[in-house]
Amino acid sequence: MGNSDDQIQGQQKTRWNSRFAFLMAMIGSAVGLGNIWRFNYVLYSQGGGAFLIPYITAIIVMGLPFLILEYGVGYHLRDSLSNILKRIKPYLEVVGWFILLIVFLILTYYLVIVGWDVIYLALSFFKGWGADPNMFFSNNIVVGGDDLNSITSFVLPMSLITILLWIVLWYTSCKSIDRIEKIVKSLIPLLFLLMAFIVFYSLTLPGHMIGLQALFRPKWELLSDPSIWVAAFGQVLFSLSMGLSIAITYASYLPDESEITGNVVAVAFSNSFFELFTAIGVFSILGYMSLQSGLPIDQLATSGAGLSFIVFPQVFNVMGNSAYILGPVFFLCIFFAGLTSLISLFETMRNALSMKFGFTRRKSSTILTIFGLVISLVYTTGSGSFILTIADAFLNNMALILGVILQAVIFGWMYGVEKLIPAINKNSKLKVGKTWTAVIKYILPVILSLLWICEVIDVITFDDINVLIIQIIIAAILIIAPIVLTKLPAKDENSTPKID
Ligand code: PHE
Repeated sequence: MGNSDDQIQGQQKTRWNSRFAFLMAMIGSAVGLGNIWRFNYVLYSQGGGAFLIPYITAIIVMGLPFLILEYGVGYHLRDSLSNILKRIKPYLEVVGWFILLIVFLILTYYLVIVGWDVIYLALSFFKGWGADPNMFFSNNIVVGGDDLNSITSFVLPMSLITILLWIVLWYTSCKSIDRIEKIVKSLIPLLFLLMAFIVFYSLTLPGHMIGLQALFRPKWELLSDPSIWVAAFGQVLFSLSMGLSIAITYASYLPDESEITGNVVAVAFSNSFFELFTAIGVFSILGYMSLQSGLPIDQLATSGAGLSFIVFPQVFNVMGNSAYILGPVFFLCIFFAGLTSLISLFETMRNALSMKFGFTRRKSSTILTIFGLVISLVYTTGSGSFILTIADAFLNNMALILGVILQAVIFGWMYGVEKLIPAINKNSKLKVGKTWTAVIKYILPVILSLLWICEVIDVITFDDINVLIIQIIIAAILIIAPIVLTKLPAKDENSTPKID
């Protein structure tokens, strides 16, 4: 059943062809770089096995309830976030665009990181990073220092990959939902299979127990330290792609008879399973490296680009011929996980443009690609990785949490979250009721406000003028662009009837 919804966008006719497609798209969004290169280090550094307590608490108290809210809103109101908020109260539209701008800005740098991975994927076939991966990374990916001096010099291979990835996203989204379905339905099962290969292989490596013991050794005393709770809530928020209206968008394409809570549990479970499973693989490999190199785990363990693009290439260098298989599989996993997350970010922003301005898929995809590409290219300059680190911390740790608080308050209090209960429960075996309502209205705003304060203290620094300049520019974009998008006239004001 091909639903070419080129013309019917704006009339809210896009629908998933199967529950499987919806689940793969949602899991594709959740399972991303965070699952592969972030979770395991957070687990290791924030209490080992003891971290699982705040982690599971964060999933139960925040992850599941908030995702149920997002699914319920999308499924019941079937619109983009900015339109939905406008329908609740016209002046709230700007809040919707604020959150969508966060989506857009995350998209612009997340794509560049996926681009780095593509470079490493190509290099992994011949260990092209050479004998010193650390140096290779600084000379070829980071290039500039921690300042804005190299902002005018493009790192050409990265700029080219970035252009290519934007074209891929454009192509994926420009026609109908069918292409997205095809991609997620094949890539996500394949990703799980490839990761299973890595994990099982890693468990055959000598030394794997050194890594696993270091990873899981519980440090119970840390449970009384607030920072591991902050880390757990932060990880769950990021890992489940919460609060960005991705789930609202994807759930707005659900057929009428769909169930809600079961899907939420399936996505959250798959996401956690994947990150725990991957952590076992990563730390087994680090254990092997520790045995080979004599370095203790704490000198090897790190997160983010340092893990994937420096430590792992070092491991592949000592590994011999099997690295020519393990390396490409590892970078391919990051690519699949990253690409499916990118698709969800792109589709969310694209849908919001179509819903407000009545653009066809092709037109909204093209506009988004042009604006997005221009911003992404900044991250491919010599100062790109410096700016990227600051943008990432600012958007994920501060702006996003603020967005989630605003949504909990708006949907909890102004819309009246009770109104969603019949729609959520209609086809769901697991029902929600008063406890869920109380979590959205009271518990989430309080917990997230505490989290937000901790993050703000952490992120805002006044010591470095360059950091401050970048933060001010991002803040300005996050304020000005939503106002402009709100002020621009909608295609048809009647297409967003008020919700009573
Ligand atoms: N959940 C993704 C990850 O773990 C990150 C992401 C956040 C993707 C927000 C899309 C939107 O990497």
